[in-house]
Amino acid sequence: MENRVNDMGSEVVEGYRCKPKNYDANRPIMHYKSLIFICNGERCKKAGKIDKASYLRDIIKDMGLNRGKNRIKVTRTGCYGACRFRQVCHITENTQINGNPKNNSLWLKHTHNFKESDWRRVFTALSEDVELKEILDNFISIKLY
Ligand code: FES
Repeated sequence: MENRVNDMGSEVVEGYRCKPKNYDANRPIMHYKSLIFICNGERCKKAGKIDKASYLRDIIKDMGLNRGKNRIKVTRTGCYGACRFRQVCHITENTQINGNPKNNSLWLKHTHNFKESDWRRVFTALSEDVELKEILDNFISIKLY
């Protein structure tokens, strides 16, 4: 039988995609340049219709951005309390390793309307450190009350 390994190179438990057979609590997490939090709260999830995180991961993998120095990581979140902007997507960048990248702490709105080509443009911009504000205009502004 073939041994399956996860993206970290660890052999995985049968029936799982990423659960390592040998658990090491001190092992560092895998580097990422950009981290995308896609809202999976009730209202955003309904607007998004499909499992958006898996969908985005498949595109990222197809673009070869699931590993390496420009790796893009996707994580589901619960409700941000900003449901009127569904499907909310929060982008952060790894300042520990990448210095001061151009797309840190951006909030995208209405991403349920994004086509695959839109997502590919976003991922290309993130990997090439192009400012997303140059190619998109649907950001949620933050107000201090
Ligand atoms: S369900 Fe996404 S912000 Fe509320």
